[in-house]
Amino acid sequence: MEKNLTVSISGIRSFIDDSELNKLTDTAIKDLMALREGTGKGSEFTGWLYLPDNAAEKTAAIRASAARLRAQAPVTVVVGIGGSYLGAKALTEALHDPFTNREHILLFAGQTLSEDYHAALLRYLDKTLYNIVVISKSGTTTEPAIAFRILRDHLMNKTGRQGMKSHIVAVTDAHRGALHKLAVEEGYEMFVIPDDVGGRYSVLTPVGLLPLALAGYDIDAFARGMRDMALNIREGNDSNANIAVKYAAARNALYRKGYTTEILISFEPYLVYLAEWWKQLYGESEGKESKGIFPSSVTFTTDLHSMGQYIQQGERKLFETVVHVEEPRDKLVVPENTDESDGIGFIAGRSLTEVNHKAEAGTRIAHIEGGVPVLMISIPRIDEYYLGQLMYFFEIACAISGYILGVNPFDQPGVESYKKNMFALLGKPGFEAEKERLEKALRGEDEG
Ligand code: PA5
Repeated sequence: MEKNLTVSISGIRSFIDDSELNKLTDTAIKDLMALREGTGKGSEFTGWLYLPDNAAEKTAAIRASAARLRAQAPVTVVVGIGGSYLGAKALTEALHDPFTNREHILLFAGQTLSEDYHAALLRYLDKTLYNIVVISKSGTTTEPAIAFRILRDHLMNKTGRQGMKSHIVAVTDAHRGALHKLAVEEGYEMFVIPDDVGGRYSVLTPVGLLPLALAGYDIDAFARGMRDMALNIREGNDSNANIAVKYAAARNALYRKGYTTEILISFEPYLVYLAEWWKQLYGESEGKESKGIFPSSVTFTTDLHSMGQYIQQGERKLFETVVHVEEPRDKLVVPENTDESDGIGFIAGRSLTEVNHKAEAGTRIAHIEGGVPVLMISIPRIDEYYLGQLMYFFEIACAISGYILGVNPFDQPGVESYKKNMFALLGKPGFEAEKERLEKALRGEDEG
């Protein structure tokens, strides 16, 4: 029997009245019901809630595709951005060993418009055969579309048009979009992102699973973690036991008291991209209608030597959510030394995790005493199973939290503004008037 992740709110008790917390807990329970019953905002995009129920039936095809791709080239480039990138990046970064060469190398493209990044990638790819997994639900997102054009041309020069086909897999909409059309025309293997699953909730579709399988990780264990968490919190009615309700209610209680920035904290550098994934999930889901907790992240103890000062004594609008990892994957102790002038002789013989955990506990208390409420999420260890639990937990808590705020947690209308301006400035036909207006605004900027 696997353990479940736990949530502790003891670090916010001195900041929030029980009555406020109880009120929001009742609201969160109703919002969980609305989510399950499909009566809340954006309910046409809640298919992700049920993905874990039959994920096991779908993993075989993904494993087979990954095995085929791995056998035919040592490298795969995953092309995608936002929800079509961050889940895979978060998982592979969390699980990888940074100092050991991997059997299969996974690289990412299309998550930036940087010319230097993509030129450097091509220089590397010049020397190797590779596959491309291109991921875009809409099939029309500019950044991955540009990267895919570049990579497809580059790959075709190596393999020829016919040979290229078996090296490309598309993950996209079942019926629509430019990528879908191209994949059909050119005969790429294709995986589908269900209509009712939005990008940032899609990690348990081929969007997250295919890259994870390519990198050699256990996608079934990941799916199992998600399923266990789904059974635990999606179906749970008891507010005391429901950790997603608890987290959503607590962070909204803090928000209502003026704590408008949440910092996700980990003492494991492996979780840096998990925090990036979490920031997208919460930022895009909640930040709308002039509302929303601003999601940010730091990695301790590294950032205690940079951001630690602000968190301890800066403006008091912050609260923290610490992701506590109970056990390390490896063991390492602080060695004995005959020369004790470094002043750390008293910790000789203790494991680095013991030291890290004491740093974490000490920081937590210092921050609470300094006026920063602290929530804590604990996972037994970083592996596929517990990452599955954690990601499903964050997804469902995010949806509940968005409902408490009164927004639709499944749309992202604000993302269109930059795209419209970028297209206009690049001279897209039909955007002429907008181009003129923007160029005038830019001239005004230049004039100071
Ligand atoms: O969460 C979302 O929906 C977005 O972040 C999208 O995933 C992102 O914009 C990429 O979209 P697409 O997969 O259509 O290329």
